Amino acid sequence: MVLEKEKKGEDAVLVDERLRHIAFIMDGNGRWAQKRGMPRSYGHAVGAETFRRIAEYCRKIGIRYMTVYAFSTENWNRPPDEVQTIMNILADYIHNCAEKAEDENIHVRFIGNLSVFSQDLREKMEKIDRETAHNPFCLNIAMNYGGREELMHACQALVRDGKIDITEADIAANLYTANCPDPDLIVRTGGDTRISNFLLWQSAYAEYYFTDVLWPDFSPEDVDAAVAAFYSRHRRFGGV
Ligand code: FPP
Repeated sequence: MVLEKEKKGEDAVLVDERLRHIAFIMDGNGRWAQKRGMPRSYGHAVGAETFRRIAEYCRKIGIRYMTVYAFSTENWNRPPDEVQTIMNILADYIHNCAEKAEDENIHVRFIGNLSVFSQDLREKMEKIDRETAHNPFCLNIAMNYGGREELMHACQALVRDGKIDITEADIAANLYTANCPDPDLIVRTGGDTRISNFLLWQSAYAEYYFTDVLWPDFSPEDVDAAVAAFYSRHRRFGGV
């Protein structure tokens, strides 16, 4: 079994083609901070550090595609200062990630309805996507993302193109994740066991892994546990 391979040095590859894509619902930042008597925003700042650590680790163990749910279409309903903190964290990442992404062979993509963001930020996101597109590892950052909005957006695009006999492939090709394989494993931290409008179409055959660990505490060892759970399951894709 893949995970039983001894971890040999920095570039040990621990996963195989059965686990190409992991997606994370990074939940529990606010509670993590509140438990420490700190404002929820502090939890998001620490959560951003966790995101960097986990992204690096997933790349190291050979995960080719990683998607993170950074901000949903519903997250605008949070208190304005909390929304502002998350937006600042994301903008900061966007302004600074290009060089590191290149060094680490990562193609950074931003998925979601990006039309709500400033022109400056959108241009920066498009530039990073374009300029890192040749890299072998793909990191999707979901911002102002909602699975229903994504499906609606895909349908609207198909109608605009005059499509009548719409196929599954047509829909998949018009999702924000076009050209990215469906997630094999979706991990949700923070103890809740729901999907929260994340990758609704793409998760049709995903395995789910739920953990009580709050996102800021989520560690490479927790990734190992999720990956081990994934490999212990038998995926039948509707067959027997
Ligand atoms: C959910 O936890 C988390 C969010 C809505 C924001 C997640 C964003 C980050 C971790 C920043 C990621 C950074 C980059 C650069 C991608 P919650 O606030 O709902 O926690 P709670 O359930 O304890 O209230």
